[in-house]
Amino acid sequence: MTNSELAKAIRQLAADKHAVIMAHYYQRAEVQDVADCIGDSLALAQQAAKTDAEIIVLCGVHFMAETAKILCPQKKVLIPDMNAGCSLADSCKAADLSAWKDAHPGYKVISYVNTSADVKALTDIVVTSSNALKIVQSLPKDQPILFGPDHNLGQYISQMTGRKMAIWDGACHVHSRFSVEALIALKREHPDAPVLAHPECKQAILTLADVIGSTQALLNYVKSHTETRKFIIATETGVMHEMQKACPDALLLPVPPEVTEGVGCMCNECEYMRMVTLEKLYNCLKNESPEVQVDETIAKQAIVPIRRMLEMS
Ligand code: 13P
Ligand code: SF4
Repeated sequence: MTNSELAKAIRQLAADKHAVIMAHYYQRAEVQDVADCIGDSLALAQQAAKTDAEIIVLCGVHFMAETAKILCPQKKVLIPDMNAGCSLADSCKAADLSAWKDAHPGYKVISYVNTSADVKALTDIVVTSSNALKIVQSLPKDQPILFGPDHNLGQYISQMTGRKMAIWDGACHVHSRFSVEALIALKREHPDAPVLAHPECKQAILTLADVIGSTQALLNYVKSHTETRKFIIATETGVMHEMQKACPDALLLPVPPEVTEGVGCMCNECEYMRMVTLEKLYNCLKNESPEVQVDETIAKQAIVPIRRMLEMS
């Protein structure tokens, strides 16, 4: 089947099965285009919490589908590729977090949504890049915090809020590899282009940025600055699809990654996000598989910090 035949068949299956297709902004363009809703991590969790569809198909990575399942235990939650993981979520195992907690009595555990259900079950409040600043700011000033797993985001939040935070040493392999030299060169070549960076980027990139925000915040910035002709983008390039749709005449300049010896790829795509294809989405809806399951006891614990986040957002 061609992509347009697949897209048509997917829409038909979704209608027949009363299913909702949700896609993250880092999905392939053709997957975003066939979805009922697209969003960042927070928006996907919010949409999952309020949908009345019987089936949720989460076109994203595993922790996103797991979060939807925790919020909607009675619904069938599908993911087109069960192997779509996240290097950041993998950097924090529940047993290690548990030991870290034991070593820091009195600390509140704030976990990025990019974590497994077991890690969320050990967490006080879940955050995403959209709401981390607001949530940490709302805590008492003298409340010590354990923040994980993204070190760059944690450092940024700690600097912005002045809060005492111990920070996990994890990183997103996509956001942490933007090249500082390449960004400096792009700025020199396009001095009129603002630099938009995701807070998962390393400090040296954030220092050079004009706007720091979640995927949604960066998209909103582009949408609300229609008079700006050029933007330098330091985040996963998938979101540029939606940016370009909103501003067809704007020049979007992605910051290239550092060149690693032996690695030829010059793009900043998350290979886990790109595992989802139209064909896999079609098969997933047709066969209602693979289905995401979360242990009931873990889910009951994990939903508490996720609900806290949704209330505080
Ligand atoms: P947001 O969707 O919160 O911007 O996070 C980016 C990300 O890396 C998702 O995996
Ligand atoms: Fe994980 Fe980074 Fe991919 Fe997001 S972009 S899913 S944080 S590896």
